Amino acid sequence: MTKIPYIPETAPFSLEQRAWLNGFLAGLFANGGGNEAPQLSAPPKAGEPLPILFGSQTGTAEGLAKRIAKEASQRGFAPLVLPLNDHSQADLAKAAKAIIISSTWGDGDPPDNATNFWSWLQADAPRLENLQFAVLGLGDRNYSDFCGAAKKFDARLESLGARRLLPHGECDTDYEASAKTWVDGLWEKLTPATNGHTLGHTVPVNDHAPAANGHAAKNVFSKTNPFPAKLLKNVLLNQPGSAKEVRHYEISLAGSGLTYEAGDALGIVPVNCPALVDEMLTALGCAGMESVSVGNTAIPLREALTRHLDLRKPSQELLAAVVARSPICELGPLLAAERRDDLKKFLWGRDVLDLLRLVDKPFSPAEFVPLLRKLAPRLYSISSSPKAHPDEVHLTVSAVRYESFGRERKGVASTFLADRIGDADCVKVFVQPSHGFKPPAIGDAPMIMVGPGTGIAPFRAFLEERKAVGAKGKNWLFFGDQKRAADYLYETELNAWHRSGHLTRLDLAFSRDQERKVYVQDRMLENAAELWSWLQAGAHFYVCGDAARMAKDVDAALHRIAETAGGKNAEEAKAYIAHLKSEKRYQRDVY
Ligand SMILES: Cc1cc2nc3c(=O)[nH]c(=O)nc-3n(C[C@H](O)[C@H](O)[C@H](O)COP(=O)(O)OP(=O)(O)OC[C@H]3O[C@@H](n4cnc5c(N)ncnc54)[C@H](O)[C@@H]3O)c2cc1C
Ligand SMILES: NC(=O)c1ccc[n+]([C@@H]2O[C@H](COP(=O)([O-])OP(=O)(O)OC[C@H]3O[C@@H](n4cnc5c(N)ncnc54)[C@H](OP(=O)(O)O)[C@@H]3O)[C@@H](O)[C@H]2O)c1
Ligand SMILES: Cc1cc2nc3c(=O)[nH]c(=O)nc-3n(C[C@H](O)[C@H](O)[C@H](O)COP(=O)(O)O)c2cc1C
Repeated sequence: MTKIPYIPETAPFSLEQRAWLNGFLAGLFANGGGNEAPQLSAPPKAGEPLPILFGSQTGTAEGLAKRIAKEASQRGFAPLVLPLNDHSQADLAKAAKAIIISSTWGDGDPPDNATNFWSWLQADAPRLENLQFAVLGLGDRNYSDFCGAAKKFDARLESLGARRLLPHGECDTDYEASAKTWVDGLWEKLTPATNGHTLGHTVPVNDHAPAANGHAAKNVFSKTNPFPAKLLKNVLLNQPGSAKEVRHYEISLAGSGLTYEAGDALGIVPVNCPALVDEMLTALGCAGMESVSVGNTAIPLREALTRHLDLRKPSQELLAAVVARSPICELGPLLAAERRDDLKKFLWGRDVLDLLRLVDKPFSPAEFVPLLRKLAPRLYSISSSPKAHPDEVHLTVSAVRYESFGRERKGVASTFLADRIGDADCVKVFVQPSHGFKPPAIGDAPMIMVGPGTGIAPFRAFLEERKAVGAKGKNWLFFGDQKRAADYLYETELNAWHRSGHLTRLDLAFSRDQERKVYVQDRMLENAAELWSWLQAGAHFYVCGDAARMAKDVDAALHRIAETAGGKNAEEAKAYIAHLKSEKRYQRDVY
């Protein structure tokens, strides 16, 4: 057997260098005595710069990037954590290495703080032959273009000549385990023989610790340790005759030590509906007392179905297991790769119980539980300012209720809040800090807010905040919903702010009060010249609410305004909007 040499502790190398050299020698001799050079990258020189660039809409990828940066420092790098749009600060063309962590939004699009980077990468980036890179994607398999943005970054960097350190990673909503595996692989490439710290067990995971704004650093409660809060108020905001059920919630943060800022979101840990859990138990032929493993803990099946497992979106594993058990069921052919769209159609409006009913012989609890996804927290834009409501957080939530395949369906978190929190109960919450979605730092800067439907939520917070701090900047709100008589959310407050002049302008678009639909973007276009003059005066432009249609149409309207009122051609308008984004004067909170 070949004896593997090693570098003694007395040799004149740092710990990291020695570890790398030992790994190098181990690799060399394991390869049969050194005929083939092992493909290892250089060990980090002490303090070697390592840009860790993130694209993140709601802070998940940002939090992960910051945790990776902590590990990078422990491994001897000098990490530089930046949003992708600030890539020029990392000077990618000159950088030797860069790590990209990005979520995906819209239909496979980069998040807002990565869109300028993507435009640059596509159109203006130089050859990047000196660069070694690695891309990790965060996404959700329920979207057809899973981790689409990360895939695009990865492919484009390669085509620009940059060298991939390892294949890009793709993480679903419960991303911790797959992110850890990918990050471990990354350290193997970057610091090949160091068997030091790895994500998950180096430093305690605290989503708030590195918050850029610093305001959450002292929180003990976090996403991994949510605060059991009291629900103080649950008020229906719609009037009789509405097709909607939007509710205003007031939640106490007293005693939690949790702090937040206008623009942040609140995470709610939901609990499944007990009636649905009963139906699931019936379909499984179980009583609920059966012991099952969730994580590494044994708990009763009823508890697992109520608090830990997603009963709504079937996982790929469940689909495959259903077909394996009942090969002739209608689902079978839809699992073929080329039938992806048909599968999506089939699954629309169907949940785990619908699938369970396709199998003839029920799964045992031990077979079934690992086939389900974890129940994920839901985020809600906070609709209060802490300065106006100390120790409280307010939310504005639309209850999701619909009928599908003969059963009444309920959105998990929105109906948990609406229906299932008794006086003695608590709701587990955490603060998800936003990056950048804040009222202008300069109190005199004008602010334009576009927030139809529940999109009003953060703007109530912004307006409360500006009132509380006495900010003198002008405020313009575009709000819309279906019918003025039934759906004018926060009507009394908004009208009072308008009357007092706190809201300089209030433009309303009630879509169903006349034959032709009128939307917020129509009001923007009707006021193009004035909106343009506000932008010229340094206004910040904010959008919140429906991502699928509204936010896209509002974006198109903004481009048109730059063309018509700003006298720009299409290219110039695009560049102008990109510039607004890079100045962080165009911020969105869309979902
Ligand atoms: C940053 C952020 C901020 C947010 N802020 C707010 C906010 O302020 N207010 C707010 O109300 N929401 C907000 N949301 C959305 C919120 O997080 C939840 O997604 C929403 O409340 C639904 O969650 P749920 O658990 O009630 O429903 P789920 O159990 O998650 O069910 C919703 C799903 O049901 C399906 N579905 C819905 N309608 C139908 C139908 N008619 N037919 C078939 N299937 C259907 C769809 O797949 C839909 O995705 C925000 C989201 C994000 C990411
Ligand atoms: N994915 C979807 O298909 C879908 C659709 C609606 C809502 N949602 C989600 O449902 C939740 C709550 O919705 P919500 O009650 O806050 O508001 P909403 O359903 O978005 O409705 C608010 C107002 O926006 C109007 N609207 C519809 N399409 C628009 C567009 N393209 N541009 C501008 N305005 C448009 C609506 O008009 P009309 O209703 O009269 O057209 C209504 O007047 C959100 O999570 C939202 O994302 C999803
Ligand atoms: C409106 C919306 C659109 C999304 N679109 C996609 C998508 O197209 N592909 C995907 O893989 N994930 C998609 N996601 C999931 C997010 O990428 C995922 O939740 C991610 O963890 C968010 O990370 P962030 O907080 O860093 O932005 C979408 C999520 C939302 C709310």
